[in-house]
Amino acid sequence: MNKTQLKTANIVIFGGNGDLAWRKLFPALYNLYIYGFLPKSFAIYGVDYLPNDDANYKKHLLDGINNFSRSGKADAKQWEAFSKNITYLQGDFTKDEIFITLGKVFEENDKQCKSRGERIFYYSVSPKFIEIISESLSKFKLTADKNLDRIIIEKPFGTDLKTAQHLNKFLQKHFAEKQIFRIDHYLGKETVQNIMAFRFANNVFDPLWNNKYIDYVQITVAEEVSVGSRGGYYDGAGALRDMIQNHLLQLLCVVAMECPINYEAENVRNMKVDILNAIRKIKTNDVFNNFVRAQYIAGEWNGVPQAGYKQEKDVAKSSTTETFVAGKFFIDNSRWKGVPFYLRTGKCMEQQASVVVIQFKDAPHKIFKDDKSPNRLIFSIQPQQEISLLFESKIPGMHMKLKPVEMDFTYRESYTEAVPEAYESLLLDVLEGDATLFMRADQIEAAWKIVMPILDAWKKFPSRDLKKYKPGTLGPKAANDLITNDKFEWVLLPEQLMTKNMDK
Ligand code: BG6
Repeated sequence: MNKTQLKTANIVIFGGNGDLAWRKLFPALYNLYIYGFLPKSFAIYGVDYLPNDDANYKKHLLDGINNFSRSGKADAKQWEAFSKNITYLQGDFTKDEIFITLGKVFEENDKQCKSRGERIFYYSVSPKFIEIISESLSKFKLTADKNLDRIIIEKPFGTDLKTAQHLNKFLQKHFAEKQIFRIDHYLGKETVQNIMAFRFANNVFDPLWNNKYIDYVQITVAEEVSVGSRGGYYDGAGALRDMIQNHLLQLLCVVAMECPINYEAENVRNMKVDILNAIRKIKTNDVFNNFVRAQYIAGEWNGVPQAGYKQEKDVAKSSTTETFVAGKFFIDNSRWKGVPFYLRTGKCMEQQASVVVIQFKDAPHKIFKDDKSPNRLIFSIQPQQEISLLFESKIPGMHMKLKPVEMDFTYRESYTEAVPEAYESLLLDVLEGDATLFMRADQIEAAWKIVMPILDAWKKFPSRDLKKYKPGTLGPKAANDLITNDKFEWVLLPEQLMTKNMDK
């Protein structure tokens, strides 16, 4: 479907006063509006508990757009036209009134537009409200049209396999699976979508994309930010639940999946589930050999004092929650048998960088003395957005001397088009009913199955091998050992051929 076919849309954001709505959702909706992707007739309702009036609410939203939108400060005329469509509705998600109000509002809008509009419900709320909101939507028949009505659920989707299964069952009682859009915003990132284009639209690398030519794959999502004010949520989650179970395993799927028969939601998601199901089950004994967890301690970050994790607000003083994880996975299928996939993520790290590295094997027969064989393909997802191929070349001169060089694709040099924010692409996908980049129930459960043995072992031995690292480093030395013991190395940025600055 393209934008001209889009019908009238009613977009409801539960948690309309929250941080996600302020920083991400409204800036994304505003950009969809100014670039012409919203239907002619649309209405957005921010629903939240606290009293507020429209004028105040809109002022707050404008401030968010001015601060966080990729298109910079809002244009006064555009904002005026866009914000006319926004209404703040005060309501308690646990009571009937707000749902009755929404029902009336939708009816009125449908009458005015002479057609039944789409209804999109974004759950930008604490997970404890998911069930009650769903029950009420269902009770008041607000999502009765399976083709036009959709809900968007943010992570965390459950806290373990059992709770995720329960939640899936519960949601499927109230909605058809095609109405449920479980968001993983990493899948909406332009550079992540481009990995699929790179792999499946170019034949060059496909013959090499297997265990015969690839030594190992590594995926890093390093964040500079600390846990900050999110301690209340984070202390019950940790890096494994917060990042590996969803974002990093999804990146792994995009790198490792087979080519689907077409680019349609069910076929793409089938291929991803196949990969998740093929990941080797982790034995309890392997958890402490193949996974490293760590917490940041107090220190300095860029000259600024940084509190240790246990001193962060709402974090237990005796917490054993990990803020860093590095681990090794294997995929037991014929393409990937024996190829380790190293994943790592952490807070308070040396720099922000999300990078996927495909390390090809050395030339089978080396004829040059100084051949370092970089043979490395790097997808830089953020903040750099590029794909680089590192290879050996001859240094110009009289003798045969080699040096690694790189071939780069950057968005900046190749495109004049701006790169949209993940939430823009994903919100548009929901409006268009395209679930390709959303998590299906079985994907979520398969991902939980993978991490459960790690969670269980860490729960059983809460402080065993829990390492520490200083802010502004790349994590504990043990994470380095994990990969160097296999004679490999971590890479963060294309120019960084060697590992550096691991905390001792
Ligand atoms: C969220 C996590 O899902 O992703 C956060 O809960 C994390 O802890 C964030 O900071 C990272 O997203 P991005 O897009 O900034 O890399």
